[in-house]
Amino acid sequence: MAKKKRPDASAVEVGRLTRQEAEAEAARLRDEINYHNMCYYVLDSPVVTDAEYDRLMNRLEEIERRFPELVTHDSPTQRVGAAPVKEFGTVRHTVPMLSLANARSADEVVEFDERVKRHLSLPADTLVEYVAEPKMDGLAVELVYDNGIFTRGSTRGDGVTGEDVTENLRTVRSIPLALVRAFKGKRGLEKPPSHIEIRGEVFLPLASFAALNRTRLAHGEPPFANPRNAAAGSLRQLDPRVTASRPLDIFCYGLGAVEGPEFTTHYQTLEYIKALGLKVNPLVKVVRGVEEVLRYHEEVEKKRPELDYEIDGVVIKVNSLALQERLGALTRSPRWAVAYKFPPRQESTRVRDIVVGVGRTGALTPVAVLEPIAVEGVTIERATLHNEDEVARKDVRVGDEVVVERAGDVIPEVAYVIKEKRPARTRPFTMPEECPECGSRVEKVGAIHYCTGRLACPAQLKGTIRHFASKRAMDIEGVGGMHVDQFVEKGLIRDVADLYGLKEKRDEVMALERWAEKSVDNLLGAIEKSKRTTLERLIYALGIRGVGEHMARVLAVHFGSMKRLMKATAEELTAIRDVGPETAASVVEFFGEPHNIEVIRKLEEAGVEYEEKEGARRPEGPLAGRVFLFTGALDGFTRDEAREMVEALGGEAATSVSRRVDYVVAGKDPGSKLAKAEKMGLTVIDEKKFKRLLKK
Ligand code: IVH
Repeated sequence: MAKKKRPDASAVEVGRLTRQEAEAEAARLRDEINYHNMCYYVLDSPVVTDAEYDRLMNRLEEIERRFPELVTHDSPTQRVGAAPVKEFGTVRHTVPMLSLANARSADEVVEFDERVKRHLSLPADTLVEYVAEPKMDGLAVELVYDNGIFTRGSTRGDGVTGEDVTENLRTVRSIPLALVRAFKGKRGLEKPPSHIEIRGEVFLPLASFAALNRTRLAHGEPPFANPRNAAAGSLRQLDPRVTASRPLDIFCYGLGAVEGPEFTTHYQTLEYIKALGLKVNPLVKVVRGVEEVLRYHEEVEKKRPELDYEIDGVVIKVNSLALQERLGALTRSPRWAVAYKFPPRQESTRVRDIVVGVGRTGALTPVAVLEPIAVEGVTIERATLHNEDEVARKDVRVGDEVVVERAGDVIPEVAYVIKEKRPARTRPFTMPEECPECGSRVEKVGAIHYCTGRLACPAQLKGTIRHFASKRAMDIEGVGGMHVDQFVEKGLIRDVADLYGLKEKRDEVMALERWAEKSVDNLLGAIEKSKRTTLERLIYALGIRGVGEHMARVLAVHFGSMKRLMKATAEELTAIRDVGPETAASVVEFFGEPHNIEVIRKLEEAGVEYEEKEGARRPEGPLAGRVFLFTGALDGFTRDEAREMVEALGGEAATSVSRRVDYVVAGKDPGSKLAKAEKMGLTVIDEKKFKRLLKK
């Protein structure tokens, strides 16, 4: 390790330093700069002047210029180094990033508290200890540190997989590139954890948001609608230099997988995150019982206008991790936490018209066309009315004055009609009996009206094609918006498989407005490229009702091939965890439709192919039905590799300790999962035994 240099060492000209001296000084400078970064960006209390800080930075840069081999990836000079990328890679979260159930009133919070106690069999008058935190309105991310170095950062995505935005997160000043080292000894932390996943919310401070929009307007660029969009847009930039120019910030609120330290309360984990040099919201507080929760909500709502960042409520979490464990989670959200939202901000305006849109599934949606009005800085011109029953319940009519609201990123809604202001001679709204797009008969299924025209309805066909070609489906660039309208209206495409026949209709495409040699070449190239895809993308692209990205992945992993999926029965489907009866029925119905089978045949014939995944979990594998959990470091493989092997043999890899787990595989330095597993009496095996099992 580098020896401490006397302070006057920095007086020596860089050119005269030996390599060894330079290395030692660079290490010392990095520690010192990291420490000042933390004081400035995290603790908000700088201990040196800007000039002194600049001097340290300049010196380090000079040394690194003179000795380029000494540059480390986590050096503070390397925040913005990476070149722009074409697209983000994906990251699978070790522990899924769940979302939160909402409470919109004090009553609902009381119910939450009661549910918690009932589930834990605690007497009704128990004061449960909670941690109360502001609910940041930004973008959830996960930061991974390996041996104290920031190695990967990702967005939440769908909770299971997110986008790899490491390079962009490196530009966020309050995210340390190296943990602990900066304040070794200063905070009593000697060694960083070998692996830690820290979760938090990235946001753009309000002042920076206003400044950013001023600059955008001055450059003739459209302003961002709100700070949250601005933060998301900034973080999802393909060029990290653009992200670096936006002063993003972060508050951390939890952990994913951790190797090393163990905690008993959520509050301890927050303290630990702070000790590592990351930001935790200073308004976080431990409260006892529901009364204190309600008071906290009031306090924070009062402070809201003074805060330099957007919040849309408070989050309440059971403090004890043992109790959290006992409460467990539902599919999307844990039972031990709730988001107590602030009431949405509302404005009133007039309904100019009610129009009916037709989506890709044929669902008819009434939409109120409004006189434009700004709510929380966002101009609203349309508000969804969901369905006929909803319009009737609210009795919204053309000409009415209505109150509209936006809650977070939710699509604007009509909250209620101001009946006193209703003009004379208005008429109640009724759904059309014929599809406004194709004239087909409309039928009502449950609360929803559907156009029966299916793919004969241009709106449904266009929607289906747009979805098929979209980025997260087959990713065919150039098949979006107006182009699809053109292809469908000119009769060039009658189903999604016809996209692959466009190369034979080159001249006809060229003849369309706004198409030229080059753009047609690009289009055909993109279509050709999309033929090599993955099974999950292909399943998702088909647009089966109820099958989003996550479900597509579940089905792809389970069945491993389109052929097997096509033959699946409703019973087989519902036996899969995550697949409910409605989705199962929808999948069976989809593949029962001859037209759909024909499209899949045409796709195959056109050469659309995917790798039959080795990782496909087939019920007949030797480990079928067996659930494994890995904790600690394995010698022979990474955890991902171990997971893939288990899945390839038909088994399942769990991410948390529960009774479902058949084997806990404990590697080196196992975390708190091992202790929990032992307490629950689960079977624990070592790596050797695990390998033997695989061989068997
Ligand atoms: S905890 C299982 N704490 O809210 C717990 N989330 O709806 C999951 N958020 O995706 C998250 N502030 O983006 C938590 N103090 C806070 C939060 C917070 C904002 C966001 C986060 C998450 C969403 C959940």
